[in-house]
Amino acid sequence: MCGIMGYAGHRQAAPILLEALKKLEYRGYDSAGMAVIDRGAIQVRKTRGRLQLLANMTADGRDMPGSMGIGHTRWATHGEPSDRNSHPHLSHNGHFAVVHNGIIENYRPLKEMLILKGYVFRSDTDSEVISNLIEFYDQGDLVKTLMTAAQHLEGSYALGVLSVDEPDVIAAIRKDSPLIVGRGEKENYIVSDIPAILNLTREVYLLEDGEVALLTPESIVFHNAYGDRFEKEPFHVDWDVSAAEKGGYEHFMMKEMMEQPAALRETIRPRIKDGRFILDDLKLDPDWIRHISMVYIVACGSAYHAGRLGKNLLESKLGIPVEVDIASEFRYRRPILKPDHLVIIISQSGETADSIAALREAKAHGVRTLAIVNVVGSTIAREADYTLYTWAGPEIAVATTKGYTSQIAALVLVTMYLAQETGKMSDEELGEAQEMLLRLPEVTEGVLSDHREVQRLASLFFNCKDIYFVGRGIDFSLSLEGSLKLKEISYIHSEAQAAGELKHGTISLIQPGTLVIALVTQKRLREKMQSNIQEVKARGAVVIAITLQGDEDIKHVVDHSLPIPYLSDELQPVIAILLLQLFAYYVAALNGNDVDKPRNLAKSVTVE
Ligand code: F6R
Repeated sequence: MCGIMGYAGHRQAAPILLEALKKLEYRGYDSAGMAVIDRGAIQVRKTRGRLQLLANMTADGRDMPGSMGIGHTRWATHGEPSDRNSHPHLSHNGHFAVVHNGIIENYRPLKEMLILKGYVFRSDTDSEVISNLIEFYDQGDLVKTLMTAAQHLEGSYALGVLSVDEPDVIAAIRKDSPLIVGRGEKENYIVSDIPAILNLTREVYLLEDGEVALLTPESIVFHNAYGDRFEKEPFHVDWDVSAAEKGGYEHFMMKEMMEQPAALRETIRPRIKDGRFILDDLKLDPDWIRHISMVYIVACGSAYHAGRLGKNLLESKLGIPVEVDIASEFRYRRPILKPDHLVIIISQSGETADSIAALREAKAHGVRTLAIVNVVGSTIAREADYTLYTWAGPEIAVATTKGYTSQIAALVLVTMYLAQETGKMSDEELGEAQEMLLRLPEVTEGVLSDHREVQRLASLFFNCKDIYFVGRGIDFSLSLEGSLKLKEISYIHSEAQAAGELKHGTISLIQPGTLVIALVTQKRLREKMQSNIQEVKARGAVVIAITLQGDEDIKHVVDHSLPIPYLSDELQPVIAILLLQLFAYYVAALNGNDVDKPRNLAKSVTVE
């Protein structure tokens, strides 16, 4: 995961690197470092811990002269977070400095080979082999050297490289890890993620696998995978800079939760025109759609939870079988893939390594792929056959909120569109679905506008040791997301259970005082849920229920209830999850946790 920033210009590099790294810190925050070239020598400063420590060590970068530099914020994979494992890594003779995002899978044999050749290693990382390999293959031409070294690397990498022999150049290359090149006024940049340089430029290039970029203050030269120079088309970014700032909120997570109505509006509105679902961006062949015999939905984490809801939707509206897979399982389990299957990949970042691998696996079998992605121009968005963007804007908090709810909205849109094109739903049903979708942003606005009761409940239960989430059907998928949200930022142990499954084991953990959060938003399953609630109540559980407004029966059975307005069964998860997100947020904040950057996590999981 890790964040990379590189600066080639005429201003002092280090303060600019620090500024950008601050915006990349969500990608990893267990250590940070910078390397700058000054008067022909590379100076490296790095430390374990948050970026602020690096800023303190270098007087906010002022102590590091030089106008060419690379910086890094780390999420440890190989080697514990420590000063020596922090990036940048210098090569053995100190001529090259490298920052790396990704994992070098064959680092052991490479390291052994280099040690035999007399190279001394100063860290436990896989990344250090890269700087030494570059030195080993140094042939006086940075592009050739980098390409030769890269040919020996297996795994994923985005690299920023400084060389004392070419002090006016920053070199960059990538494979399966994101890297963007930005063009400024007499200065140029490399960066892991666009929002970090939006204050510097809006002209960016998306580096493709195997391409090399050489940046000087005045020029950017691209070489393709064969080493030939070529011109690359820039991409203009027109996002609002404030979208990547906190805008007065204490945490990005709160800001992003509050942005959900707008994210949903942006995702839904352009796709409903004149009473029809219009997914122009997909350009799916209507004839082929009618022949889809099976759908796989593949994703990780919260996106996988959204995918589970997609299964309910697609199966119930289209009557075709749908399998939902965790990407890291899908890629290795040899799924049966046929030409009339559709694989839907869901990813907020579009850079999740396992989801990219699953996409490629599907494509290798000749299966059509549809991606639901938030980050424009990301790897998954570019590689999928069809891409439907969720227009949620940049998401910075590690725990996804608006990314997740807009994924559900996108899945509803895809389902309705396919149902419309195949005639599986009547005009009346489609019209009703449109009405509900268009009302969704406003309804979520209402729910978010007064959440004092959730905050109060969080203050009652923030020091619980275990919290269980239960639900049936769609509500079970929602329970998984509620539980993940809570555990990842509050560090409280939590499990989600299909409510009917409790009595097959997990109910033995319920004791007097155990908190159970029950989701009861599906009218069809309400009675069944009521019985399951009685079962845990009988064992002394304290129950908070998310219910539909007006459901007085459930209200009387449970200890606390959080009623939500009813729109439609398929849209209830979007409304209900808002309360679970808020609950997780307040519990985490009351525990004094870093809500936006929970321990051991990072935003975009670009390693396997
Ligand atoms: C949880 C969370 C993660 C992501 C997962 C997939 O709050 O954010 O579980 O959902 O890492 O990320 P994307 O959607 O970027 O592929």
